[in-house]
Amino acid sequence: MKIVTTIKEVREQVAQWRAEGLTVGLVPTMGYLHEGHQSLMQHSVHDNDRTVVSDFVNPTQFGPDEDYESYPRDIQHDAKKCDEAGADLIFLPSVEEMYPGGFCSFVDMNGLTKGLCGASRPIHFRGVCTVVTKLFNIVQPDRAYFGQKDAQQLSVIRRMATDLNQNLKIIGVPIVREEDGLAKSSRNTYLTPELRAEAPVLNRALQKGKAAIEAGETSSEIVRQIITDEINTAPNADIEYVEIVDWNNLEPTPSTEGSILAAVAVRFGTTRLIDNFIIERD
Ligand code: PAJ
Repeated sequence: MKIVTTIKEVREQVAQWRAEGLTVGLVPTMGYLHEGHQSLMQHSVHDNDRTVVSDFVNPTQFGPDEDYESYPRDIQHDAKKCDEAGADLIFLPSVEEMYPGGFCSFVDMNGLTKGLCGASRPIHFRGVCTVVTKLFNIVQPDRAYFGQKDAQQLSVIRRMATDLNQNLKIIGVPIVREEDGLAKSSRNTYLTPELRAEAPVLNRALQKGKAAIEAGETSSEIVRQIITDEINTAPNADIEYVEIVDWNNLEPTPSTEGSILAAVAVRFGTTRLIDNFIIERD
């Protein structure tokens, strides 16, 4: 496995693979890698001849009061995780490499990004779409892998790839969880032991909501209330949103009968955690 820091080196390596007739998968990450990221890599290794992992804490997707500076970084740890999962190349660019002086072009979206996480993070998806488009242009992969953990991001990237005729397949990968049900996240490391003990309430609450739907409940409002009440049993849980939306367009829906995304964002102290489930129906 190779680690490179420049766009030129990535392009040269991918060109060599292409000349050999090999397929290429891309796993975009911000590092501090865990089993969730490794699951994306394993899917890519399975589907493609070669796998590129990008490891870049992207400043343009963080708001001014967010955790860009304190976001955890550990390249030694990341290299080990990539190696274990069978990745072939890590792209570890500097901010200057990705955003040289004079940079002023962005990829933005009118729908999908206003609700859910977009409501409290107004510039977030513009930053994500921009950096992901740059990575697609740099690597030109056959497939790129995104976690369902960030369901809105997955939906946004799929839409962007379709709208802008980006020539690759977007593959969604299921959420990987800790044993107690907490969705794995680089941000879980911010939690104190007390808050860490409370955080599995998110998955418990979502499971309760899902069970109600499976038992025949069709009112989004009632399911939303079931999820909200369960989260509120945790003394330090501060709910940002509990939403049930149509999975096809991320618009709020009164009924749980179609394909839906149930998504939550909750603060435990200063740590913001997200989780969700999706029910897909034809
Ligand atoms: P990051 O938070 O590092 O996540 C990278 C990828 O790993 C995302 O597609 C995310 O959904 C997936 N992922 C994270 N935790 C997961 C889990 N527990 N189970 C399954 N997949 C999981 O998302 C980003 O970085 C950035 O926004 C990025 C797309 C790299 C653009 O900067």
